[in-house]
Amino acid sequence: MNGRFISFEGIDGAGKSTHIDALAAWLRGRGHDVVLTREPGGSELAEQLRHLLLHQPMDALTELLLVFAARRDHLQRTIEPALARGAMVLCDRFTDATFAYQGGGRGVDEGRLTQLEDWVQQGRQPDLTLWFDLPPQVAAARRGAARAPDRFEREDAGFFERVRAGYARRAAAAPQRFVRIDAQQAADAVWVAVEAAVAARPGW
Ligand code: TYD
Repeated sequence: MNGRFISFEGIDGAGKSTHIDALAAWLRGRGHDVVLTREPGGSELAEQLRHLLLHQPMDALTELLLVFAARRDHLQRTIEPALARGAMVLCDRFTDATFAYQGGGRGVDEGRLTQLEDWVQQGRQPDLTLWFDLPPQVAAARRGAARAPDRFEREDAGFFERVRAGYARRAAAAPQRFVRIDAQQAADAVWVAVEAAVAARPGW
């Protein structure tokens, strides 16, 4: 039996982390083998690339190529083996983040992104993408001063508006895969929406 691949997306401060953990516990409670992972990261090499991506100054093309290099290693070492043994893979961000951040945020041409996506992923896509959507100013207030911001979190409001618009374009292009979650709601209402989105998938 093949596993299922669920990705979680949204601008920084959307509050997805809590719900990823909750969904993992919920699925384990129903007897599923669950693999929790993230991008950039999710394998030894990709975690090293993540550190560079979040903290080392670089231009937009270098950033893009490192994101896809990390993704390639993550797919080969973590995601594909887990799906092959029938696990539920919950991934905190995947390629929609590249279209949103490098495409929308940094302005990299979407045609280029599509070429890399095809080349690196060989058709692999999440079965379900939960997009935690909320206005950038609400997300910025939530991020607050809790910890030192990384290279992305330091970007201005205009950047996060473009990231959000990038997610909206990806969601419109793949409506069967995407479920938009209103992340402005209280956390318990967000969880109800997450659970409903997964429970609505036939045969899961
Ligand atoms: P994130 O996953 O939000 O981790 P944390 O919650 O620890 O901040 O941070 C990863 C950052 O990487 C986030 O700001 C978005 C960025 N990113 C990209 O720019 N492109 C990508 O393809 C991915 C996967 C992430």
